[in-house]
Amino acid sequence: MELTSDQLKQYDGTDPSKPIYLAVKGRIFDVTTGKSFYGPGGAYAMFSGKDASRALAKMSKNEEDVCASLDALSDKEIGVLNDWEKKFEAKYPIVGRVVP
Ligand code: HEM
Repeated sequence: MELTSDQLKQYDGTDPSKPIYLAVKGRIFDVTTGKSFYGPGGAYAMFSGKDASRALAKMSKNEEDVCASLDALSDKEIGVLNDWEKKFEAKYPIVGRVVP
């Protein structure tokens, strides 16, 4: 499945009839089983329906960091992001990619 970032927004958990998606480095994970984290009111709900790569790399929940940009990240931040990617791969199914 290929989704634009605009289409991805529909899967932010606000519609309970839809799955919840979160993308890391352009790959979309179905995080619906993590609804307590990513559903409405969850601690990480700001990542839902988005590519959260930058926020994960920076360990940030700030809205301005919740985006796909890897610009000017440090090697350490890239390492943190890669660790998150491994965690998501182990825990959630990949359902597609974000396309321009
Ligand atoms: C005081 C700060 C924080 C505390 C106490 C905290 C605590 C936790 C706990 C208890 C879990 C659940 C681990 C598990 O059951 O597998 C978790 C998962 C997670 N945390 Fe945090 N966290 C904090 C800050 C952050 C920040 C700043 C971020 C931003 C990137 C973040 C991102 C995540 C993510 C993405 C998960 C994975 C949820 C999943 O398994 O899908 N956390 N955190």
